[in-house]
Amino acid sequence: GADQVREYKRQAAEFAAEMVQDGMVVGLGTGSTAVFLIEALGRRHREGLRFLAIPTSVATEKLAVSLGIPMTSFAEHERVDLTIDGADEIERGTLNLIKGLGGALLREKIVAAASEKLVIVADDSKLVDHLGEHCLLPVEVTPFGWESTARHLGRLGARISPRRTPAGQFFVSDGGNLILDCNFGAISSPAETERAVRSIVGVVDSGLFTGLASEAVTCGPEGLAHLVS
Ligand code: A5P
Repeated sequence: GADQVREYKRQAAEFAAEMVQDGMVVGLGTGSTAVFLIEALGRRHREGLRFLAIPTSVATEKLAVSLGIPMTSFAEHERVDLTIDGADEIERGTLNLIKGLGGALLREKIVAAASEKLVIVADDSKLVDHLGEHCLLPVEVTPFGWESTARHLGRLGARISPRRTPAGQFFVSDGGNLILDCNFGAISSPAETERAVRSIVGVVDSGLFTGLASEAVTCGPEGLAHLVS
């Protein structure tokens, strides 16, 4: 049930929280699994571990600040030593990802791209043979001309729906952009799809993360697994 899945997420996040070492700059992910990570790092901070954090979303920043975690930014630090983040789908073997169900994909990708190491934390139901099997691919686009951008995405073979809030308004990302949820079906070459999507004018970025994650910590009925790409 849902409680069991939460428990898997908590175990994966707490395992990964132990990877943070004294003096590190740490990227903090977004989502329900990342919440367990941030809580664990809040505890480690109170116990004396020294580190500085860069958040991947407004929600993550609020939680981390409320727990007393010291924050930094790209103004002060060029590189992030370790980022720990969730994902919506993880391709077995490659650790290519779909992210952005929470709407923070652009910030998440900027932090991931600046990180020496990206570790993904998830319950093991997120592991798939092909990305796009269960998940739509979120694509962040500028509000201006989004209909035109959506038509170009459609020509790549996707069915597109602009993400809306429960009240029916367009969902607006932390970066002030719209999210188009794209149904590509199973994606056979994620790097190619990522390139094709990103080359469309009006696309800010996509939730396909290829070649960025080097490790994943997953948890399920068989316990914890530490996967390396
Ligand atoms: C946020 O934009 C996403 O990329 C999250 O990392 C993803 O949705 C994972 O969230 P959960 O840990 O809540 O499943």
